[in-house]
Amino acid sequence: MAGNIFGNLFRLSSYGESHGEAIGGVIDGCPSGLELDFEAIQNDLDRRKPGQSRIVTQRKEPDEVQFHSGIFEGKTTGTPIGFAIYNTNQKSQDYGHIKDSYRPSHADYVYDQKYGHRDYRGGGRSSARETAARVVAGAIAKQLVAPMIIKAYVSQVGDLTLHTPYSELDLNAIEANDVRCPDATMASAMEDLIMKVRKEGDTIGGVVSCVIQNVPIGLGEPVFDKLHAELGKAMLSINAVKGFEYGSGFAGVRMKGSEHNDAFNSDGTTVTNHSGGIQGGISNGMDIYFKVAFKPVATLIQPYTTIDKDGNTVETKGKGRHDPCVVPRAVPIVEAMAAMVMADYMLLNQIHKNQL
Ligand SMILES: Cc1cc2nc3c(=O)[nH]c(=O)nc-3n(C[C@H](O)[C@H](O)[C@H](O)COP(=O)(O)O)c2cc1C
Repeated sequence: MAGNIFGNLFRLSSYGESHGEAIGGVIDGCPSGLELDFEAIQNDLDRRKPGQSRIVTQRKEPDEVQFHSGIFEGKTTGTPIGFAIYNTNQKSQDYGHIKDSYRPSHADYVYDQKYGHRDYRGGGRSSARETAARVVAGAIAKQLVAPMIIKAYVSQVGDLTLHTPYSELDLNAIEANDVRCPDATMASAMEDLIMKVRKEGDTIGGVVSCVIQNVPIGLGEPVFDKLHAELGKAMLSINAVKGFEYGSGFAGVRMKGSEHNDAFNSDGTTVTNHSGGIQGGISNGMDIYFKVAFKPVATLIQPYTTIDKDGNTVETKGKGRHDPCVVPRAVPIVEAMAAMVMADYMLLNQIHKNQL
């Protein structure tokens, strides 16, 4: 299996399966001398971990990270940072039903077709448990890119949409509820909807919005490696993601150029920010903001029809502990992927700043 490494200079190589011994990674290219806030790293893992509230999967995992290398006296040494998060709460018997049959719209069928032999327990490598490694690397990247600030929140669950722009929201209120939506009334309606869907044994999709503030001008390599192209790849690599848009996104299609253009102030900032902080693939110093769409995930705790390995139709029913809606747990994953891109492009910019 190729493609387990993300990034150019700040690089994460991730490993592990859902019900294997551990999930983990090696971070290559993190500069030396970065004093790490370990509590902040664990806090991001806790925001992603299963079992944290009644609206997410009830698998109980402490998700404690153990670092094996690259850190001395609390600071990075510039050598590879190896880490592991041991799996402690697997219930592999819950997955016997997908050993020989395939959950529609999950990765079971394509893994079997491509690799011929797969670890089906908990979805194996296709499980979003892999994203715990991203969250560790992203939490370190966040500390590297400071004073840039990266904040994500849930802006839609099913049809329930928060239309308020991020600039009018209290982004300090994101963690005030289990949904991670900074509008308390909307959060409560979203929570009710997720609970209703859970009781039906069904799942529902949602949107995570993200904003990056204090971005320096000049990040992004402007032909194939545009900053928004890398952010798009980062977000679209997250399990269950179906869409990415930045700045005005698809809504910009309905505007005229005269409405859409971001007029300059004399200091180079812009009056509006339809560009989403990126022009020509390069950051322009304004906030970067984008949205990520997540599908209603595949595992249903209700009867469904599918096929087995021989193509026979089989009736089955999902078992185990699954997320009825993944966006509350996806918030720290989106932040992590954004942080890794910003760290990578910050380091690339340091190499390229002499107009290389
Ligand atoms: C935080 C998070 C939790 C997830 N939990 C589940 C789950 O409980 N059940 C499920 O079927 N898929 C879940 N997924 C999605 C699957 O991992 C994903 O749909 C699957 O690997 C197939 O990939 P694709 O949807 O990107 O095509 C989760 C995704 C994320 C981001």
